[in-house]
Amino acid sequence: MEQIDKNRFHLQKMAVNYDKMCQITVPGYDFLQNAAIDILKFENIEEIILLDLGAGSGILIEKVLKEFPDSSCYYLDSSDEFMSVAKERLQKYEDRVNYIKSDFCKNWESKITEKPTVITSMSAIHHLQTKNKKKLYQKCYDMLEEGGWFFNIDEMKTVTEDAYLKNLYYWIYHAQKQKYTISDDLSSSYEAWMEKFSNWKKRNLDNAHIPKQEGDDIHEPFLAQLDCLREIGFTETDIFSKHMLWCLIGGKKSF
Ligand SMILES: C[S@@+](CC[C@H](N)C(=O)[O-])C[C@H]1O[C@@H](n2cnc3c(N)ncnc32)[C@H](O)[C@@H]1O
Repeated sequence: MEQIDKNRFHLQKMAVNYDKMCQITVPGYDFLQNAAIDILKFENIEEIILLDLGAGSGILIEKVLKEFPDSSCYYLDSSDEFMSVAKERLQKYEDRVNYIKSDFCKNWESKITEKPTVITSMSAIHHLQTKNKKKLYQKCYDMLEEGGWFFNIDEMKTVTEDAYLKNLYYWIYHAQKQKYTISDDLSSSYEAWMEKFSNWKKRNLDNAHIPKQEGDDIHEPFLAQLDCLREIGFTETDIFSKHMLWCLIGGKKSF
């Protein structure tokens, strides 16, 4: 069967509208990103060299650059369209960001010239099949500086199937209720975002019985992903925060 909205990340309109809407329509978006940043402050990492995987329009990178004035970042994403929105957002930090256009499964490591001390990702790794998630987690471990941290904030299954299903429906409820709070200048972006979201509903609810392919939303239990991080060698692994479908998981590469 034809994959629904397979090329969604390669549309300029999608990239622009995602950038404008994600902090409003994705439940807990800022809360979860800020939680990861807070952990970094608590850990007191001396020099932050961040690698953000599937960095999209650069919102998380912007927060890190603002919070940590001595930090520098690698932006990695396979979409030219998202990258062009990020370049606009991050214009004033031009000399602190390196842009890498690559698919997660290709050889992007050769373009990283300094070992990252922090690797993050939000709402991106769940598009990979299980074996490719594992390969990416392993790559992150190998690449991280010793003492560095890896965080993945992502759509994940929870402990039971019925609770997972509720989390999927909660996103619909959350997105729909934003209609009543959205300012006039954002209403067309909101409508465009909701149109794309109707395909998400088709993929994850109406067609939930159809086997997932790479690029779909391949939700996996956070417990299985934590096991995977531990098997690879990450220490202090935990689910640091959770809000409905989104889990902030991660671990440290020990010295
Ligand atoms: C839903 S957006 C999230 C963007 C950003 N992390 C955020 O939370 O705002 C997913 C991003 O992951 C990127 N992406 C998805 N699959 C990818 C892959 N296999 N390799 C590289 N980037 C990928 C997309 O191009 C898109 O920019």
